[in-house]
Amino acid sequence: MLKNSSEIDITRVTQSKIKDVDFENLTFGNVFTDHMLICDYKEGKWQKPIIKPYEPFLIDPSAKVFHYGQAIFEGMKAYKDENDDVWLFRPDQNLDRFNKSAIRLAMPEISEHIFIDGLKTLVDMERDWVKKGLGNTLYIRPFMIAIGSGVIAQPSTQYRFMIILSPARSYYSGEVKVTIAEHFSRAANGGIGAAKAAGNYSAQFYPQKLAQEQGFQQIIWTDDATHTKLEEAGTMNVFFRINDTIYTAPVSERILDGVTRKSLIELAKREGIKVEERSVLVDELVVAAKDGSLKEIFGAGTAAVVSPIVGFQYKETYYELPKTEDSIALQLKDKLTKIQYKLAEDTFGWTVKI
Ligand code: COI
Repeated sequence: MLKNSSEIDITRVTQSKIKDVDFENLTFGNVFTDHMLICDYKEGKWQKPIIKPYEPFLIDPSAKVFHYGQAIFEGMKAYKDENDDVWLFRPDQNLDRFNKSAIRLAMPEISEHIFIDGLKTLVDMERDWVKKGLGNTLYIRPFMIAIGSGVIAQPSTQYRFMIILSPARSYYSGEVKVTIAEHFSRAANGGIGAAKAAGNYSAQFYPQKLAQEQGFQQIIWTDDATHTKLEEAGTMNVFFRINDTIYTAPVSERILDGVTRKSLIELAKREGIKVEERSVLVDELVVAAKDGSLKEIFGAGTAAVVSPIVGFQYKETYYELPKTEDSIALQLKDKLTKIQYKLAEDTFGWTVKI
């Protein structure tokens, strides 16, 4: 943690707003805690981080983030156990991916000291916002934006790294139905699909809006070249269970290296569940849905955790998935969340105490 004033400047709120928050009725990502962390990059180096009350800030209208979308982010969570200890889940993986995203977007990498120690210091100050009980989490949003001014289309020389925190329960409320992309694409080879770049998400808003108008919560993206291979859903990686094997697309230039995805793969292997990282073809999925060998589809992500999908649409036909007594999705979700909330032994060494 960053404790003394040579490492961080801390200004605290005079009064917390926590008493005004209805923790039982949270919609994802709308409520933020009392404080935020800010660390600026200028003159070729990261400055001293500060923690201050959560509030709006000023940036020049010509800042590159507004014009060229030079922005990246991460999604993480903190969990509280029965002893009131607060835990992070594999934060090293988020730091690693954040820096890979930074390189791809021509932004400066950040140190473990600022990212992890800064995060621990901030979450430690906000530990009352992490509620006990399965399903209660503190969603952590680290992000970096280009704040240098000037509309010339070149990387900025000034950046702002920030961390904001939001108490959260589930991302999806209700059933998740998906449609399979036949025209639009999320990512292309050589593009920024593997980076957690802001633009990857805004590019999905329009196709997602069209899908939502037809009653689908998400789109399962297919490869941009042929639209024949199933890739990922916009806010999560995706798994398909055919008979007793689960399949998920291999990480590539088009697919995000999800922390939940890789954790589920490791957990499945440990549990003796057959898991294969290979592309599933849309045709294969349709055949499996018709002959009954398609048992489950589920999304995996930090915000979404493990989200069972109840059915998919492809070329005007909707395929409903069967109800399963022995859901692998729910089995893996149970194992994962028990590790995150310290209700089961963490033999992988994934959890980090604050
Ligand atoms: C996450 O799962 O943390 C993400 O970043 C997805 C986001 C769109 C909520």
